[in-house]
Amino acid sequence: MVHFTIKCVANGVSSQTLTTNHVAVECATLPFMARPLNILFASPEVYPFAKTGGLGDVSSALPLALKQQGHDVRVILPKYRCVKQAKRAIKPMGLTVAVPVGPVTVPGELHEGRLNRSVPVYFVGQDGFFDREGLYGDAEGEFSDNPERFIFFSRAVLEACKALDFQPDIIHCNDWQTGLIPCYLKTEFAGDVFFKNTRSVFSIHNLGYQGNFDERYLPLAHLPWNVFTLEGVEFYGYFSFLKAALVYADRLTTVSKTYSKEILTPEYGFQMDSVLRHHQGKLSGILNGADYEEWDPQTDSCIKARYGPKSLKGKQACKKSLARKLSLKLAEQTPLLCMVTRLSPQKGIDLMVQRFGELMEQDAALVILGAGDKRYEMFFEEQNLKYPKRFRFIQGFHEKLAHQIIAGSDLLLMPSLYEPCGLTQMYALRYGTVPVVRRVGGLADTIKAFNPKKNTGTGFLLKPTKASEWVPLIKKALDLYPRKQVWRSLMLNGMQQDFSWNQAAKHYARLYQRALASK
Ligand code: ADP
Ligand code: GLC
Repeated sequence: MVHFTIKCVANGVSSQTLTTNHVAVECATLPFMARPLNILFASPEVYPFAKTGGLGDVSSALPLALKQQGHDVRVILPKYRCVKQAKRAIKPMGLTVAVPVGPVTVPGELHEGRLNRSVPVYFVGQDGFFDREGLYGDAEGEFSDNPERFIFFSRAVLEACKALDFQPDIIHCNDWQTGLIPCYLKTEFAGDVFFKNTRSVFSIHNLGYQGNFDERYLPLAHLPWNVFTLEGVEFYGYFSFLKAALVYADRLTTVSKTYSKEILTPEYGFQMDSVLRHHQGKLSGILNGADYEEWDPQTDSCIKARYGPKSLKGKQACKKSLARKLSLKLAEQTPLLCMVTRLSPQKGIDLMVQRFGELMEQDAALVILGAGDKRYEMFFEEQNLKYPKRFRFIQGFHEKLAHQIIAGSDLLLMPSLYEPCGLTQMYALRYGTVPVVRRVGGLADTIKAFNPKKNTGTGFLLKPTKASEWVPLIKKALDLYPRKQVWRSLMLNGMQQDFSWNQAAKHYARLYQRALASK
């Protein structure tokens, strides 16, 4: 007789284990489990419709993982110009929400699309606010009407719930652009029976972006002056959309354990650390996942040749094809380093600039794909001219090229000053591209130092305060590169890591249950 072990997990709540020996079966839904939840995931960016960084990736992958666990999850974002350009089917729903912004009522037209044909995605259309190049800004800087745009969007999210007759148990908000939603639920909408059982969860993806604006926007948001206090939305004289969320959300999360501790300190707290310490009881850290449907060299249609832990040959083909595409003169034994990144101080770009000459003395080539601060773009453009054979900077945001660079390179550099989670290093691991990173935030939680003697670990870590050791650390990695067997083991250690979203989605489901249990 064969004995089965059946472990039932629903909505993250492990409920029952029946005895077994051989087979472990995970059941998504069983009648005695916690009920599936109605979840509205509100985000300013959602891949493949709109993306400037990792938040876009998270906002598609997490809802899909929650859906797989049996929840009714839906996503909402603004209908930017790039949504139309994404070449995905979206259609008008014939529903319009009326959103008060100061003395005027602004209409928002609802459109609908899908993620992977399963998760509904709603778009709030208002061309005056969203039909322009860029999500939050353009070459001139941040859009000056960002406060109006995201006051409108935040309130439109709540109006859309009513128009769609979708009563969420949880509204999961992300970053400052959605920060007013938790505040509305506790103020303007506090007595609204439609939201009587709705709780809010707010995820901090980056404390460095806070949405702090002049106090004159408070009446524009239709918020009462009694919230403009130290305990409320006031932050050093400004009206802070981020603080609104930190104060009023039922639960707060951030995207790695280490970052959830770092942000409580003045060093990483961007002056919000005391607010966070005050609300520490409702804060937790849940490590992001990597979406292996999108990022796996065994199935990736963007790259020259498929490969995986069982056969690494395709990686060489990817490297050759990339070198050809970028006109890099690369001998087969020359290691190729890469960065795929927003060009902002957060990413440690100053360290790269300061040490660039020293780095170029190494026997290696480097490719950087990035967009952001003009001063960095200009610096790297100049280096293109100086090192035409061994360095290539590509300015801009190119999704397909990002895959090709990560697949075709040998090492990924990520010397971030702070990194809430970081997805690029997780993708790099799966592609056998060895990360060299600063030991902060999610980088510390996802990369383990390689020990060639024991053959353990997945990458190389710089101590946070030891900037002077950046190039020596890269050199240490490069010295191992010619040792084919050692390097192969290092690559395989990384490729076998599993950061799939399933685990994180279970943590979120448990957190939602806790939020619902709160008043
Ligand atoms: P962050 O969200 O801080 O930018 P993450 O590592 O979490 O950092 O996520 C970055 C995401 O954005 C990854 O999917 C990465 O491939 C992508 N990305 C960053 N810069 C570019 C670029 N210039 N072109 C294409 N993709 C990019
Ligand atoms: C932010 C962070 C990054 C994180 C991403 C998704 O942009 O900078 O570390 O991975 O959000 O959570």
